[in-house]
Amino acid sequence: MAQITADRVLILDFGSQFTQLIARRVRESGVYCEIWPFNVDPQKIADYAPRGIILSGGPASVTEDVAPKIPEIVFEMGLPVLGICYGQQAMCAQLGGLVEGHNHREFGRAFVEVTDTCALFDGIPEGWAMGAREQVWMSHGDRVTRLPPGFRPVGTSDGSPFAAIADDERRFYGVQFHLEVVHTPHGAAILRNFTHAIAGCRGDWTMAGFKQAQIDAIRAQVGSGRVICGLSGGVDSAVAAALIHEAIGDQLTCIFVDHGLLRLNEADEVVKVFRDRFNITLVHRDASEMFLSALDGVSDPEIKRKTIGGLFIDVFEEEAAKLGGADFLAQGTLYPDVIESVSFTGGPSVTIKSHHNVGGLPARMRMKLVEPLRELFKDEVRVLGLELGLPKSLIGRHPFPGPGLAIRIPGAISREKLDLLRRADAIFLEELRLNNLYDAIWQAFAVLLPVRTVGVMGDGRTYDLACALRAVTSTDGMTADVYPFEVTFLSRVANRIVNEVRGINRVTYDITSKPPGTIEWE
Ligand code: XMP
Repeated sequence: MAQITADRVLILDFGSQFTQLIARRVRESGVYCEIWPFNVDPQKIADYAPRGIILSGGPASVTEDVAPKIPEIVFEMGLPVLGICYGQQAMCAQLGGLVEGHNHREFGRAFVEVTDTCALFDGIPEGWAMGAREQVWMSHGDRVTRLPPGFRPVGTSDGSPFAAIADDERRFYGVQFHLEVVHTPHGAAILRNFTHAIAGCRGDWTMAGFKQAQIDAIRAQVGSGRVICGLSGGVDSAVAAALIHEAIGDQLTCIFVDHGLLRLNEADEVVKVFRDRFNITLVHRDASEMFLSALDGVSDPEIKRKTIGGLFIDVFEEEAAKLGGADFLAQGTLYPDVIESVSFTGGPSVTIKSHHNVGGLPARMRMKLVEPLRELFKDEVRVLGLELGLPKSLIGRHPFPGPGLAIRIPGAISREKLDLLRRADAIFLEELRLNNLYDAIWQAFAVLLPVRTVGVMGDGRTYDLACALRAVTSTDGMTADVYPFEVTFLSRVANRIVNEVRGINRVTYDITSKPPGTIEWE
């Protein structure tokens, strides 16, 4: 992985669901960091030479033999170390303390009493002073019951006598609670104390600096070669293309395979932004006819995905060949796709949906990859997009699946159905924007149901299709909650759809969270 700056922190992942949040908090404070699995080759840790190491939480129990261990090198490099939850327990167990299972488990909100001063708590306005009782977020069964030599307690909670601990000489620290979640109000300030005051990071990592470093890196990688980049209308490929264009100008050609399954006006917008505004060489291939005929009569969701994914690669390859080939293929791969996930469940996980439908592209094209967003999280990509001058409307867009509207029409699709869905969807999104709700929602869309229902309009009977509205909040799409609209808002959207889209006479709101539902209907 590219070494962005010497001022960096390493996070070793023990499988916590919050590990990515630790990284985001650290980066928000201007310090570059990366997440590596705990069992990475120790030599790599030494070579990486971070300023400090953070040990994440994790689902395992150090009381079990198979529990993951902290590589010894972590304690031998003379670097500050911060253990969070499992990280703290493993540190104590390995350095000569004791960790025990406990029947007073703490899950959720808890309070920590500050029992001593500590560099972790220094200078936090209105908080973490001696004797203060601070709200934190806990999620643990085990707890440290004896400290290793050199450590002293600095905070205690009902369930953990050693909720916060410090060994000032070695600069080893541990907290039983999760600093990285918003339910620990001063958690980010404590993390900042670790990265800045204790580990000595300057905190001068900015998106403008990152942009320039990436531009230099792209120029160095590509030289005078030619790059092609697939545009989808989504945020990631758009930002990757704009960044690469800023680095190498006309050496970049974008290929936009329009499969005819996009939302209303989306294809026009992509062309307008990239060709007209950014002056990027853009091949716009309208392949909708081809995709629709391949999908004719297909109703199985996975066959839809595979058909679209396969055809997409064929068309992309054809267009690339017409250009006379290129040396590099650009992709908007993000950091969460790159991080090796740490799993303790064992066994293969069940495939619910084959999302990575264009994942075969690089292998088929046998080209070198340019992936300038590999170090970034989604929200950082958005900041970079704004930095590059991409329009807010594009940058703030909800995620949209590769197979597009095909998986929002259960059953077989047709041009007519796509057209109905596009118009209903556009009304829903327009109302969300008008009512300032769009940005509070992770994803919102309409689904066209393969169901006809009876209605009455004017004096006449209708027998038309029904549609469902879906709107969810989420941080990563892995789990999702239903957005709790006011009924008046939903009624207005339903009225508009039924009045303005002839062919739809009924609207429902999907109130299923994920799990047990998925975000998309197919
Ligand atoms: P689900 O429906 O699995 O969706 O809860 C989670 C997130 O993934 C998106 N999604 C897809 N993205 N190709 C994609 O590129 C797909 O086949 C696909 N299926 C779902 C979905 O929109 C949500 O953001």
